[in-house]
This record gives sequence, structure tokens and C-alpha cells, in this order.
Amino acid sequence: MPETKVIVVGQGYVGLPVAMLAAGAGFDVVGIDTDKRKVDWLNSGRSYVEDISDEQLLEALNSNSYRARSDYSDACGFSVAVITVPTPLTESRPDLSYIEDAARELSPHVTKSCTVILESTTYPGTTEQLLVPILEQGSGLKAGIDFFVGYSPERIDPGNAHWNLANTPKVVSGICTDSLRKVQDFYNRFVRCTVPVSSPKEAELTKLLENTFRHVNIALVNELAVYANELGINIWESIEAASSKPFGYMKFVPGPGVGGHCLPVDPSYLSWEVRRTLGRSFRFVELANDINDHMPEYVVQRLSLALNKRALPIMGSRILMIGFAYKRDSGDLRESPAEPLARMLQLRGANLRIVEPHLAIGSIPLDAPIVELTESEVRQADAVLIVTDHSSVDYGMIKRLAKFVLDTRNVIGAQPNVDVL
Ligand SMILES: NC(=O)c1ccc[n+]([C@@H]2O[C@H](COP(=O)([O-])OP(=O)(O)OC[C@H]3O[C@@H](n4cnc5c(N)ncnc54)[C@H](O)[C@@H]3O)[C@@H](O)[C@H]2O)c1
Repeated sequence: MPETKVIVVGQGYVGLPVAMLAAGAGFDVVGIDTDKRKVDWLNSGRSYVEDISDEQLLEALNSNSYRARSDYSDACGFSVAVITVPTPLTESRPDLSYIEDAARELSPHVTKSCTVILESTTYPGTTEQLLVPILEQGSGLKAGIDFFVGYSPERIDPGNAHWNLANTPKVVSGICTDSLRKVQDFYNRFVRCTVPVSSPKEAELTKLLENTFRHVNIALVNELAVYANELGINIWESIEAASSKPFGYMKFVPGPGVGGHCLPVDPSYLSWEVRRTLGRSFRFVELANDINDHMPEYVVQRLSLALNKRALPIMGSRILMIGFAYKRDSGDLRESPAEPLARMLQLRGANLRIVEPHLAIGSIPLDAPIVELTESEVRQADAVLIVTDHSSVDYGMIKRLAKFVLDTRNVIGAQPNVDVL
């Protein structure tokens, strides 16, 4: 069988795993990323995405089934292109400029019978109303007749040891029956199961529904944590007890706020679209945003009260922050609640020091020393603030030596010297 050329546009947390699995399935894969630094790292066998090991990358490079490029010159003759570029919020509005740029660059390489799949998270209607017209204009071809287009949301959960791209069911869609079949055939080569829906709009909404569900439920337990603390009730114990119910309940836990590329962003794509097209407010999303956005402020308030009990102000206190990434065992700093939290502490005059064992690309965007977790650091701190529950951290040592700990993740649990969120 001749090698089928696959282009994966964007070699980040989503694109690189797609590229690796496609390469492993026998496709001839070109990973395109406009960040030349990343391309150089990839071509030298260095992975910056936790879920992809250097060995896996090297195997794909050495077998000539994968190469990274910083422009689109190697895009010609592709059979399938997958677009996995960022979709951030810019000034609180969906920013689709990355999708537009990628589509524009890709469009001259669109030929008869090829398939273009969008994986970036976005509001319903993007594939048909934004992507298709750009591809048609740049190629002079007609989508659904000359070439095929679909949308398949990414469900990757970086750092999850059990669920990955290959074993998580993949929702797929196409702008017509042939497009759906092409999209399904492509993913069936390397994912265990595909879940077809009738059009890209349903697939786009599926992703937003999943993330809005998580966002709203996290907001629920965050608000409950605030009230439970004031009522003198251990919310964590109640959550554990509720989780023993085998049906009708799903466990979510409080924390210092939500972060990452998805939760603080995706629900706002949905509320923006509802407001734009229907003129209505998506109240669940607005409320969840409000609650989750205020969690860093609440953590500062709790820390301030705890220090006050020890006759210490935040001003001048030495605070050792454990973790800066938004989630456990990840180096992803995007939208991490640690950043507003750290800024608020610095604004109040805290002497802040940060432990982040998973520092990935880019350093922490703050003027604060990044330190190793040592006994001396813990002893000297007026307070240890656990923000991210990385599994490599020696919590036993912190519990033993710290004067005071505010544990926002319940990783140590309540102790005489430990307050839990
Ligand atoms: N990270 C996750 O856990 C996750 C999970 C599900 C869905 N998503 C969604 O997937 C999309 C990508 O997210 P990500 O986390 O992989 O982002 P990322 O920032 O890690 O990777 C995107 C890459 O695209 C590159 N890029 C930007 N414009 C480009 C262009 N025109 N051509 C080629 N490359 C370009 C960037 O340099 C970057 O390396 C987003 O829509 C995100 O919401 C992310």
C-alpha cells in the first residue's frame, strides 16, 4: 500500500500525540508548527509534551514516519490534514485567528479527495461557517464534492496514565456522509472506537458540553467548600462519603481555581455564542466563571486569616508555594490559578518562593525565586501553600517541618499545623 501523507497542524499537547499515533499506524506524518523552537526540538528527538516520551518520538523519526516542519512547504500531496491550533480567549472573546491562519496556509495544498479535520475546541458552527469557506477559497475546490471536511474534538487529558488518545472513544463528524466516512476511517486506524454524530455542530457542542459540565461542577464544590469552612464542616469528608454512592453522583473536588487551556476558556466560547446568536445569557457558565475566578482571592483570604492567628501579616512573610502548574504532574502553566494567586500575595508584600518540579517550556511569569524543595526552605517559611498536588513532592517532610501549611488540594489533610481549603 502506498504511504498516505498526513499533516498535523500544531504540534502541542493535542497535535503531537495525534501525530505520533498516526505515525505508529503507518501514515507518513508531517507535523507543522509555526514555533521554530518546537520544531527544532522535535526533529532532534526532544519531546516537550509529557504524554510523549523522547523514545517514542525518536522511534517515529528513525523510522522516517514522522518529521516536523515550521512552514507548509512539505504539506503538498496530503491525504488527511488535522488542525490542532490554539483557540484562546482574547479580551474575553473567542480568538479564531489561529484556525484562520492555519486554514489559509493549508488551502493551496487542498487537492481532490483529501480530508481536512478540525480538532481545536471551538463554538458550534466554526467548521462549516469559518473553516470550509477559507479552504474553498484557497483551493478553488468545493467541500463535500471535491474534498472532505470534518470535526473531531480532542479529549486528551495530559498526564492521565489510564485514558489516552488511543483508548478514549473519539467523537467524529463530517459535513456530508462521505466526509464522515473519511474522518471515521482515518481515526479507526489508531483509536479504539469512534462515536459518529450527525454534523460538525453536534461534535463541536459535545466538547463544550463536556468541559462546561466539569467547570460547573467544580464551581459547585468550590462554593460549597467556602460555606462548609465557615460552617465548620469538613467538605472533603462529605465529598468522599457522597462518592460512595454508586449511581447519580460524580466526584469533583475543590481547589485554588481552574486552569489549563480548556476549563477557564471553553465554557466562555459557548456563552459567547449563545449571547451572540440568541441574545441570552448562559447563566450557569457566568456563575461558574464568577465562582472559579474568585478562588485565588479566597485562598489569599484564608492564608491571611491563618497568618493573622499567628500574629503575622502577609507583608514580609515568607511563603513557600508548592506547585505552579494548573494540574498534578504537569508542567502546563497556562491559565494556572497559581499566577493570580502569586501576584496577589506579592502585591500584599509577601516574600514568595516557588517550588515547581515540572517546569516546562517558558519560565514562571513572575519575579519570584524558583527553589528546590528542601528541609531548610520548609523550616524557614512562615507558611507553605500547596497549590498543585504533584506526586513527586515530599508531603511527609512538609507536614513534619512546616510551621503552617494551607493545603488547597487536601493532599496532606487537616493536622494541627495544616489547614485544608
Ligand atoms: N491541552 C489539552 O489538554 C486540550 C484538550 C482538548 C482540546 N484542546 C484544544 O486543542 C487545541 C490545541 O490545544 P493545545 O493544548 O495542543 O495547544 P498548544 O499551544 O499546546 O499547541 C498548539 C500549537 O499550534 C501552533 N500553531 C499556532 N498557529 C499555528 C499555525 N498557523 N500553523 C501551525 N502551527 C500553529 C503553536 O505554535 C502551538 O505549538 C485548542 O483548541 C485546545 O482548546 C486542548
